[in-house]
Amino acid sequence: MSEENAQNIIKKTVQESEAETTIVMLPSDANPLGNVFGGMILKYVDLLAGLVAKRHAGHANIVTASMDSMTFLKPVYIGNALILKARINYVRKSSMEVEVKIEAEDLNKSQKVHTGTAYVTLVALDEKGKPTEVPKLVLRNDEEQRRFQEGEERMNTRLKNRKR
Ligand SMILES: CC(C)(COP(=O)(O)OP(=O)(O)OC[C@H]1O[C@@H](n2cnc3c(N)ncnc32)[C@H](O)[C@@H]1OP(=O)(O)O)[C@@H](O)C(=O)NCCC(=O)NCCS
Repeated sequence: MSEENAQNIIKKTVQESEAETTIVMLPSDANPLGNVFGGMILKYVDLLAGLVAKRHAGHANIVTASMDSMTFLKPVYIGNALILKARINYVRKSSMEVEVKIEAEDLNKSQKVHTGTAYVTLVALDEKGKPTEVPKLVLRNDEEQRRFQEGEERMNTRLKNRKR
């Protein structure tokens, strides 16, 4: 590849797209005994993962292609702060794997617990609705390299198991 072509390939760092949000859980988010619905948490996971993918992809429509199975390790209650931290691990061509770490904070006790980790695959679409290539990922250290490799392995597994 010529030096000019190499310079034209758009690349972005993990830090350019990462995002965090904190939301206080309300009675409308939960069952009558105060446990927050898993589906409510997944809605916020999907929203934040979409934001990260949009930041990375720039001018493209972003859709969720799949979400890996996940376990809710601890309950989240009304009045807890739900804290989500999302970052991009892996980029293929039009698809991106975004990891979302989920924590619940008991605001009375100032205690945070890890309640789960979600892996969301999002795909960038052009104006005709066709998958379109997104920027490559700049891997700046060993940890980002490791996350990328693990993301690639998970992507290979999910594509192998994909139901059409
Ligand atoms: C996601 C979607 C665009 C894939 O379309 P497709 O016809 O399978 O397109 P392709 O086979 O060319 O795949 C495009 C990319 O998506 C990836 N992909 C497709 N299905 C996937 C899955 N289940 N899990 C992970 N990645 C997937 C492919 O690997 C490919 O990635 P790459 O470009 O990085 O190599 C299409 O299935 C779709 O529009 N689904 C609905 C999305 C949506 O509306 N989500 C919101 C909830 S309804």
